[in-house]
Order: sequence, then structure tokens, then C-alpha cells
Amino acid sequence: MTENKLNILVLGSGGREHALCWKIAQSPLTAKLFCAPGNGGTQNVAENIALDADDHGAVIDFCRTEDIALVVIGPEAPLVAGLSDALAGAGIAALGPNQEAAQLEGSKGYTKDLCAEANIPTAAYGRFDNAEAAHSYLDQQSAPIVVKADGLAAGKGVIIAETLAQAHAAIDDIFGGAFGAAGAELVIEEFLTGEEASFFVLCDGENAVPMATAQDHKRVGDGDTGPNTGGMGAYSPASIMTPTLTEQSMQEIILPTLKAMAARGAPYRGVLFAGLMLTPNGPSLIEYNCRFGDPECQVLMQRLASDIVPALQAAATGSLADINLDWHDDVAMTVVMAANNYPGAYEKGTVIKQLDSVDTDDTMVFHAGTAQAENGDMTAIGGRVLNITAKGKTVAQARAKAYIGIEKIDWPGGFCRQDIGWREIQREEDIGRGA
Ligand code: AMP
Ligand code: GLY
Repeated sequence: MTENKLNILVLGSGGREHALCWKIAQSPLTAKLFCAPGNGGTQNVAENIALDADDHGAVIDFCRTEDIALVVIGPEAPLVAGLSDALAGAGIAALGPNQEAAQLEGSKGYTKDLCAEANIPTAAYGRFDNAEAAHSYLDQQSAPIVVKADGLAAGKGVIIAETLAQAHAAIDDIFGGAFGAAGAELVIEEFLTGEEASFFVLCDGENAVPMATAQDHKRVGDGDTGPNTGGMGAYSPASIMTPTLTEQSMQEIILPTLKAMAARGAPYRGVLFAGLMLTPNGPSLIEYNCRFGDPECQVLMQRLASDIVPALQAAATGSLADINLDWHDDVAMTVVMAANNYPGAYEKGTVIKQLDSVDTDDTMVFHAGTAQAENGDMTAIGGRVLNITAKGKTVAQARAKAYIGIEKIDWPGGFCRQDIGWREIQREEDIGRGA
């Protein structure tokens, strides 16, 4: 059956891309797997190559030379920059939405307007391109209230204002250039209360296959304190997303979004990652991302029982209708180890030892900001560096295994949160489950 095998290219260099490569490499459909630029972990399951995702011509040339049948685009920036469109133009299948559909992540105002048009539950809002109108809208509102830069701001463009004075200051900061071009517009929205959950759905423009739920820990410190990060750990599934809430999210949020995007002439193809607030009135959309989460992808890949390649290919080519995905019953948890002082300035080049001692049947390490030095040492070259990922019958079990793995790693240059999964573990204790 060699004629059915595919050469695949994964773009990105995070823990998400290591997890994707690890899963794709296990598929009997995978012939050759490349990762660009990849990291110190992807090199063990794929061939790392130096390709700049901003250089669309170079990506297309590489795909032609290596006969790539599927490109999996990991991060949002190349999607918002139109890489999917360029690949489609060259006749190369790619997982990830085109430039307009990626506006679901690239512009908060775009998503809010779409929700208003399609009657999708989300916080009430106003969208502004000048400070004067934003300030006078705010004068009619009450605190707490949320002010968001419209564009991609590396997770930093959201200000939860406890007072109207803070919100007025946030408007001036955003229009004053604090977030660069991402702040050319802003959204002011109602503050929602409830617990958050992430919901991942694979879409082909028309059909949607629900994948799984997860919860992330965005703050750097234990007890969800300190500055925001890209995510310090995650687990899946999020039990708070019951089957009823999942179905309600599909019917009220995801499917109407796909319909509205198709009606706009921008059918959504790729992974749709919905950040939901589970309010007393049901799930409400906080935001969309147009890709897998990082580190959520790591736990999803560990739980996915089915071959991922047919599903990714079907999403990229508009044929998801016959695809079903099976998931292991086990829960999975990943704990991020980051360079000391992340998300502030951190040292690069510190040496990580004893990584090979972590792997067991249900514990493994996905690399993020690592690179192998010429002398063979594994070194840290980024903020988030390692994802220690474990499976268990309960979140408490998975967590115990993940932290046993962390104990074995010899890396004085790094740290992790000690309490990943605390909400879920509290829930497990409340119902008498747990370790
Ligand atoms: P985002 O960068 O859009 O993911 O927002 C960052 C975080 O801000 C979210 O994960 C929520 O915790 C919080 N947030 C965003 N919008 C709202 C809202 N309307 N109400 C309450 N919290 C929000
Ligand atoms: N972990 C959150 C994200 O990937 O956006």
C-alpha cells in the first residue's frame, strides 16, 4: 500500500508540534515526516528542517521538492498571514484555515460581529477604532469590564478592568500603541463569570468532528497567580464540560459559526479551538483560536486512540463526514517546565540532563524550546521548554506520574507549577475519586 502513504510537513517548534509529530509518526499512512523548524524533541520522530513559514515561496518549493501531500500548520501567525491560501494556490493540501477564516483568531471584533450576526452566545460588546467613541461607550457601562486589543497580541491584549478608571486607561494604552498594530481597534465587553473550558473541534468547511475538551493554566504561579503565560499545564478531558454542555456548544456555537463562515465565503477548515465560559445560562464564547492549543494539544495527542492522519487529511480536503475519532478513557495531564523567570527575561543555553529517564508506558516528555548542542547536550532555548505528560485513571493519578517524571529531570535552569489540575483534583476529591 506504499502508494497511499504521504509525506507530511508540520510547521512550528513548540510542544504542540512535537506532540503532533509524535502522533503523526505512528501512522501507517505516514511515509516521510518533516518538521520546520522543529525542536530537540521533534528530531527524534521527524526530520527537522530550516524553513521560514513567512517565506511562502520557500515553503511551496520545499513541498514540491519533497512531494509533500499534507502540511500541518501549528501556530496562528502563519495562518493569519495567509500561508494556507498560498499553499492552496499551489495545489498543496494544508490543515489550517485561510487568511479570512483565520480572522476568527486574528480579529476579536470580526468574531464578535459574527456572533452577533449568527446569534451565538457571547459577552455583550462594543467595537471601536477610535478612543473618543470607546470612552463614551464605556461611560454607559459598569465594572468589572473587559477591554481587548483587536489583533494578535501574544495573549497579552486582554485587560480585565476592576474599575471603569482602569478600563478608560486600557483604552488609552491600546490606542496609544501598547500592542502595536494589534491595537488599531479594540473591543469592550461584558465581564462573564463561570469556569472556563477549552473545546477542540476539527472542521472541513462544512462538517465538524468534536475532538476533546481541556483546561489550561495560564498564570505563571501556583494558585493561578502572577502574570499570564502561553500556558503552564493542561489536562483533558475537562469533566465540567459534560456531554450535554458539549452538545449544546456544538449546536449553539460551533455549527452556527461554520454556517456563518460559509455564508461569508470563508468556510472554516482546520482545528477550531473555542475558549468557553460556562455561565449559569450555558456556554458562552470567550474567544476562538484557529489551531490546537499549546499545551492542550499534548494531552489531546496522548489521549487520541485513532490514527490522526486520515482525520487531518479529511479536514484539509473537505471530506470529514465519514471520520470518527476514538479517545482513550484515561485522562492526561501535562506540566510545563519553563526557564527560570519566564515569562520575564530568561537565560538561554542551560543544559537539561536525565531526560531519557522520564519515559514510561504512560509518561513522556514533549519538547518545546529545546535544541541539541553540537556536543550532544540538550539545551533550553525558549521560555516554555518541556512538557511532562502522563496518563492515569484520574487527574490525581496522572498528576502524580507527571511530577514523578519531573523529579527525575536534572535542570537547575527551569521550574514548573506544583498545582496543575487543582480544580479537577478538588472535584475528584469531592466525589470520592482521586489517587
Ligand atoms: P484571551 O486572551 O481572549 O484568551 O483572554 C484571556 C483571558 O481573559 C481568558 O482566558 C479569560 O480568563 C479572560 N476573559 C476574556 N474575556 C472575558 C470576559 N468577557 N469575561 C471574563 N473573563 C474574560
Ligand atoms: N494554551 C492556550 C493557547 O494555546 O492559546
